[in-house]
This record gives sequence, C-alpha cells and structure tokens, in this order.
Amino acid sequence: MAEFTLPKNSRIKAGKHHPAKAGAKDIRTFRVYRWSPDDGENPRIDTYDVDMATCGPMVLDALIKIKNEIDPTLTFRRSCREGICGSCAMNIDGTNTLACTKAISDCGSGDVKINPLPHMSVVKDLVPDLTHFYAQLASVKPWLRSDTPPPPDRERLQSKEDRAKLDGLYECILCACCTTSCPSYWWNSERYLGPAVLLQAYRWIVDSRDEDTGTRLDELEDPFKLYRCHTIMNCARTCPKGLNPAKAIGEIKKLIVERAS
Ligand code: SF4
Ligand code: F3S
Ligand code: FES
Repeated sequence: MAEFTLPKNSRIKAGKHHPAKAGAKDIRTFRVYRWSPDDGENPRIDTYDVDMATCGPMVLDALIKIKNEIDPTLTFRRSCREGICGSCAMNIDGTNTLACTKAISDCGSGDVKINPLPHMSVVKDLVPDLTHFYAQLASVKPWLRSDTPPPPDRERLQSKEDRAKLDGLYECILCACCTTSCPSYWWNSERYLGPAVLLQAYRWIVDSRDEDTGTRLDELEDPFKLYRCHTIMNCARTCPKGLNPAKAIGEIKKLIVERAS
C-alpha cells in the first residue's frame, strides 16, 4: 500500500492527551489530526487512549467510541460502516483507506495515526473538502448518454460480454482515496482530473449502451485532464476496493491513439 506523511508543518502541535481509565488493560493509542475553522487555532494532534476490551475491531469503531465517550467535538464522516458509501475515507498510518474496513489489529503495534485525506482543504478535523472533486466528476457527465430511446417495455440490455467490461469499474465508491494519493493530482489538481474521475469516465466510455464515446474521448484529449497521469500507481496500491484506476487511464489513452490511427 502507498505510504504518505503529512508535509512538515511546524504549526501542527501536540494537543490534548486523553488517557484511558485506570484499570483498563488492552489500551491502543490514537493520534488524531484536529483543526477547526471556528477557533482561529493552528492544527494539532490530539491523543486518545482507548480500551480495546470495550471497542469494536475497526478504526471507525474507535473513532465512534472516542466521539461518544471521550471527546464529542471530534468530527469525521461515516454512514454505511461496511465499505460502500465511501464517506469514512481518511489517512490511517500513512495509507489512504476506509476507517470502517481497516482493522485496528492491522495498524501495527505503535500508536495509530489518523489524518484527513492528503492535499485537500479541510472542512474540520478528518473531513476533507470534496467540492472540487465532485465538480470534476460532474464535468465528465457520469451518466448514460444515448439518442436512442429506451425500449418501451424493458431495460436497455447488454450481452454478458459487454456487461463484463464494467467489472473493476462499477465497484468504485468514489471515496477519493486514489485521487488524494496521486502526486500528479497534488500538484495539478486544478486541471488534472485524477484517477477516480478518469476511472468513472472510462466506465461510461466502455458501456455498450452509451452513444457518446467520441465526445467523451474528445473532452479528455487534453495535456492536463488526462495526460498528467505518469503511471505512478499509488492509486492502484491504495484503493480500498482493490480497483486499478491506472489501468482504466491506460485504456483511455489507448482508445485515443487507436482512433487517431
Ligand atoms: Fe475509491 Fe478505489 Fe474508486 Fe478511487 S477507484 S475512488 S480509491 S473506490
Ligand atoms: Fe497518479 Fe495513478 Fe497515474 S497515482 S500518476 S493516477 S497511475
Ligand atoms: Fe461507508 Fe466507511 S462508513 S465506507
């Protein structure tokens, strides 16, 4: 898995330490990034000791326990708790992943370090600002575009072979772990679409029911939108769903070359 560290930032200071209750034996320590737009303070790292005997197995369980029992001001997003909604994406021990599917026992023996997704603006604590990411997703029009009206009495059907082309693409939950792991995206996020959005673009390019492939490729044929991918592969290493956005990006590039020749 790809590893990342926070940029050296002298403004990030140690914050409060919340020790576990006396008598608790199986203690794990969580070091969590904190920042609020409301108090004018610099970012800091707060430390929480959690008794594993009364905590669920996943990192999200520990965050929920901290919020419920130790510090109600801790802010993070979560919904499904089973790796489907993508809202609990964060950087855990240097790797972008989902807090609800990351086992605490897989975090190594030291303190568990939890930060927001890297190189994004922070709304508060562990919540990244995904406004630009969603605008980029909307820019590739990720829906079926077809002039042919649907059959009156049933769905638009696909052959099994055509349906199989969507495997490895439709499973994307848009968590943004890949995009925020990509150094090309860190430096060019205003103009490079990044791996998650390009994977979504390819998902519609290969859909046999879509009739706008040419326009989709025209819109991606751009030195920044597509060609800022330099095959660094952090995206594929970090995807918590085991997908390979780099492969999808390579397929788009191949289609553009093929149609030119
Ligand atoms: Fe998340 Fe993987 Fe989709 Fe990227 S490709 S947004 S890491 S599910
Ligand atoms: Fe980035 Fe993945 Fe390409 S990490 S450079 S999108 S291969
Ligand atoms: Fe939905 Fe983690 S809470 S993916």
